[in-house]
Amino acid sequence: MNLTERKDLTERKNLAERKELIKKIERSFRSRFRKDPLLIESPGRVNLIGEHTDYNHGFVLPAAIDRIIVLAMARNEQDLIRLHAADMDSGCVEIPVQNSYKKNDPGWANYVLGVVDQLAKAGHVTGGFDCVFGGNIPIGAGMSSSAALESGVVFGLSELFDLGLSRLEMTRIAQRAENHFVGVQCGIMDQFASLHGKKNCVIKLDCRSLDFELYPFDRDDVRIMLCDTNVRRELAGSEYNIRRQQCEEGAAALHKHDPSIHSLRDVSFSLLEEHKNDLDPVVYRRCRYVLEENRRVQMGCEDLSKNDFVSFGKRMYQSHYGLRDDYEVSCPELDLLVEAAEKQEGVLGSRMMGGGFGGCTINLVIQDRAEQVVEEITQYYHERMGTSPGVYIANIGDGTRLLS
Ligand code: GLA
Repeated sequence: MNLTERKDLTERKNLAERKELIKKIERSFRSRFRKDPLLIESPGRVNLIGEHTDYNHGFVLPAAIDRIIVLAMARNEQDLIRLHAADMDSGCVEIPVQNSYKKNDPGWANYVLGVVDQLAKAGHVTGGFDCVFGGNIPIGAGMSSSAALESGVVFGLSELFDLGLSRLEMTRIAQRAENHFVGVQCGIMDQFASLHGKKNCVIKLDCRSLDFELYPFDRDDVRIMLCDTNVRRELAGSEYNIRRQQCEEGAAALHKHDPSIHSLRDVSFSLLEEHKNDLDPVVYRRCRYVLEENRRVQMGCEDLSKNDFVSFGKRMYQSHYGLRDDYEVSCPELDLLVEAAEKQEGVLGSRMMGGGFGGCTINLVIQDRAEQVVEEITQYYHERMGTSPGVYIANIGDGTRLLS
């Protein structure tokens, strides 16, 4: 089998899984609500490089992937929001339509209610609706299942209630749902990637202007492989918000020396070094990492323009070391997976992905060596941790869209 055929094979496997999933969600909706739904597909994301830079108004390089959430949605005339998560045993959640919503049990309902709440706060009128959803994005693995759900809900409600929202407006509402309702002060990357993904392209997003450029990422000989520690991010919520505060503290201190500084995006290396002693040493390291990571995204995009995946891969390792040593959001399991990857001939680059403290590493792997790499990384990890990592091949797909 040649490389293109092998790539087609994994894409076909994921496609077959996706078709089954769509059928399952549609069937579940029809048997529960006995009417025709709108069907929506909303993807998770990977981030090639540019971690913890989005909320510092910097650069990121994510892409939507072929792991998705499928939503079946329809209006109802009962002024009720009726929700069912097909993958959970929690039955149907029923909430009357209101002007503003409170956090609810089970937790997953908040990703939906948060969006409805933010739509209401932005003056968009919605009404009663029914929704069944389910997917194949592993939860808590750093592939943004929550952003996929929020993006799918806002997209679906815009269709159902003719809100006419642009993708950028949807992105902002979905992000605010996470910030104000769920309570994680995340940046805009995940929701943006889910809603703006393009097949076989990565998105270089400027998180200050929200301008973006697509870079083709479509090589038959290089695969994106995710290795999952299966460690879930209990610390992530609070630690994430702390990192954000530390960056803001750094930017505020530097603003005193240069009033044009509003975020770490505006800070140069020379200014940071000049005022190093005015900063708490931890805050200084956080800031240095963010400046370096922004530079890595810029240089990494130049690599991609030159089709230089070897150089790009080296930057991924550098990104991991920064996240591990300066930003301190890695964990022993993630470090071990990167260490295992470094020992493989066929791995061009490897780093932890997403918020950190667990979840996945993202690896660029030479297709020809992929099977052996999986075997060897699994063995290396198993010998030291006593468990095997999950392994996923991610194909880059389109953003949130209507299926019917
Ligand atoms: C989480 C957040 C994103 C981003 C990443 C780290 O995924 O939701 O906004 O900050 O962490 O890069």
